[in-house]
Amino acid sequence: MTRLTLRRPDDWHLHLRDGDLLAGVIDDSARHFARALVMPNLVPPVRTGAEAAHYRARILAALPPWADFTPLMTLYLTEDTNPRDILCAWRAGLVTAVKLYPAGATTNSASGVRDFDRVRGALEAMAAAGVPLCVHGEVTDPAVDIFDREAVFLDRVLEPLRRTTPGLRVVLEHVTTAEGLAYVRAGGPAIAGTITAHHLAINRNAILAGGIRPHYYCLPVAKREHHRLALLAAATAAEPAFFLGTDSAPHPDADKLAPCGCAGCYTAPVALAVLAELFAAAGALARLERFASLNGAAFYGLAPNLATVTLERGPPLPPPAPRPAGTARVTVFDPGFPLHWRVV
Ligand code: DOR
Ligand code: ZN
Repeated sequence: MTRLTLRRPDDWHLHLRDGDLLAGVIDDSARHFARALVMPNLVPPVRTGAEAAHYRARILAALPPWADFTPLMTLYLTEDTNPRDILCAWRAGLVTAVKLYPAGATTNSASGVRDFDRVRGALEAMAAAGVPLCVHGEVTDPAVDIFDREAVFLDRVLEPLRRTTPGLRVVLEHVTTAEGLAYVRAGGPAIAGTITAHHLAINRNAILAGGIRPHYYCLPVAKREHHRLALLAAATAAEPAFFLGTDSAPHPDADKLAPCGCAGCYTAPVALAVLAELFAAAGALARLERFASLNGAAFYGLAPNLATVTLERGPPLPPPAPRPAGTARVTVFDPGFPLHWRVV
């Protein structure tokens, strides 16, 4: 197959940032995706319905005139979040989900949750109203090895939290382990998982073998090859519980290439091409639409996009140029294998 037409995909986990960075990256998502669930980890975070409405307006203002792109907003859950504010924003159609960051787990997570008892009221209100909770699934305990933090989170945090909040709809974001996949599979229709393009493309060797490569450093960090293969099997089988959330996370190169570099891979421009390459290699191109365009919308109770996008296979593409963003530049993710698929 050298040509593939599918419903326009949605990105169920995206960092668009703000200001110059937003202006520098928004076109890349708008070009390939019809909708995206926009993460709220700005500084300061997007905590209230009013803040989400303002952020949404800034995103819409940054969109180019040709774009047909809908940002779906999230609220950043803090220990001070007022459950009534969540419900109000949800009922107004202003937000699609609430994001839980364990405090200290990742970029701009300092305002996240330390004491899970303090968000019980919010979670119960969300469960009653059907508001999905998107979870950054890593423990922050410094005693836990960074490669084990997702698996430990499932036992120590997520399972108790779901047991005490029956009915809560949960998305385990950016699943990186076989344990995470198994947890989602066993959890029934109230839980789903997003998978990124980069965790399907690289394992932890890409970050560390033969030199340190900061542009492959993200959180959760990429794991061993057998985990990558497990993720690839789940995605290419288009299991209904799993769908694309790129976690495309732009940082200025100066912040990535530093003694303490930021976590995040900027994948928006190449995510579809990387997926097409991997699905084709797995003989699963016909299932790409379910993974990238159908499963996520079904979980969120939205209709699939009517418009389509066509991918075509050709000679390998040159690596994408870094994106200018104000005075900064942002390096685009390089999967380490040639990309032949382009959107036509
Ligand atoms: O790699 C990551 N980058 N993981 C996250 O959880 C946050 C993200 C970011 O905002 O840069
Ligand atoms: Zn993220």
